[in-house]
Amino acid sequence: MTTLGTPLTRDAVRLLLLGSGELGKEVAIEAQRLGVEVVAVDRYADAPAHQVAHRSYVIDMRDPTAVRRLIKKERPNFVVPELEAIATETLMEIESEGLAEVIPTARGAFLTMNREGIRRLAAEELKVPTSRYAFAGSLEELQAAATSIGFPCVVKPVMSSSGKGQSFVSGEAELLAAWQEAEKKSRVVMPRVIVESFIEFQFEITLLTVRARSADGGVETHFCEPIGHRQERGDYVESWQPQPLSEKALCRAREIAERVTTALGGRGIFGCEFFVSEDEVWFSEVSPRPHDTGLVTLATQYQSEFELHVRAILGLPVSTVLQQPGASAVIYGGRDAHGVRFAKVAEALSVPGTKLRLFGKPESFTYRRMGVALAVASDVDTARKRARECAQTVEVLGPSEA
Ligand SMILES: Nc1ncnc2c1ncn2[C@@H]1O[C@H](COP(=O)(O)OP(=O)(O)OP(=O)(O)O)[C@@H](O)[C@H]1O
Ligand SMILES: [Mg+2]
Repeated sequence: MTTLGTPLTRDAVRLLLLGSGELGKEVAIEAQRLGVEVVAVDRYADAPAHQVAHRSYVIDMRDPTAVRRLIKKERPNFVVPELEAIATETLMEIESEGLAEVIPTARGAFLTMNREGIRRLAAEELKVPTSRYAFAGSLEELQAAATSIGFPCVVKPVMSSSGKGQSFVSGEAELLAAWQEAEKKSRVVMPRVIVESFIEFQFEITLLTVRARSADGGVETHFCEPIGHRQERGDYVESWQPQPLSEKALCRAREIAERVTTALGGRGIFGCEFFVSEDEVWFSEVSPRPHDTGLVTLATQYQSEFELHVRAILGLPVSTVLQQPGASAVIYGGRDAHGVRFAKVAEALSVPGTKLRLFGKPESFTYRRMGVALAVASDVDTARKRARECAQTVEVLGPSEA
């Protein structure tokens, strides 16, 4: 049984967000709606979720001492990771000491922070279909690994996200450049990479999967309608829901998602990524938290992925029902500047069926995601057109002259 409290009192239910980007901001807002006390943490000041939290902190979340000190100080009921680069060993200690509940589980956060952990679990223990793969810790090992996997292949640092440090490699001559790119963008000093065979998929999907408390007190798995998306530079630029799948492919994706998320355990939402071709499905990776391509659910579902996450965390019932087809389109900064302004917002929002989320990030970069356009329509194609038009109409300007 869940009992909720009043924020800023002794009985408050407290949620500590490790990572305060645009996804964390929406989680914080949903938690606020239920009177949960929200503490938002990031490595820089005035991050999006900081701006809607009861308290905010700036720490290096990879630093075990800093993470432990903050959890001891704040005594949250729930620790909710929003990104991968966290001291997950500390979260495992926190969980085993019973200091807080880690979402979905500390082991889930630990295994998914590193491509090697989740890939070995999925492919070797759970035997789900994936691309062929091998790991390498030096240029020589990479050459051997790529030769065994074959070309074309994809090289990725095991510790990276949003496509950082990834290379598509069509032949041996490109391996040196791929290694150097991975070395440059890796989060750790001793880079290690995964080499994956390139999958010629028809499309790729995110299958949002929710593990939530069931009526009998156990945990039940729910699936959202598949989300289709398009990636550029390893980053999502556009997503839509629903993405139609053959019955067989949908069955397979759900079966794999259930197996993988059950192995990670706990409660919460998971973004399971798949490559799909006709009836064939390959598991790519999973994030044990809301997924960026799932921003579309803010427009399409009765309960967005953020509401689903908060409900699941709190042990409340969930519904993954789709309300109407929709799409999202990313708004990039397009410039390097502090304190940007957004022009043509009224024109953008005059596109029928659209909404905007402007994240409030203090600093803009050319390819930094600063906002997203959301659209609904009676069909996905129209929704995609509307979302793109809305996003393209918004103009990002530098700060006004003093
Ligand atoms: N083996 C592969 N075959 C074909 N395309 C791939 C392969 N691996 C990755 N890609 C493409 O690159 C994109 C990013 O890869 P992946 O999801 O592994 O990286 P990421 O850094 O975790 O990205 P994100 O954090 O945005 O999910 C995929 O969505 C897909 O479009
Ligand atoms: Mg991905």
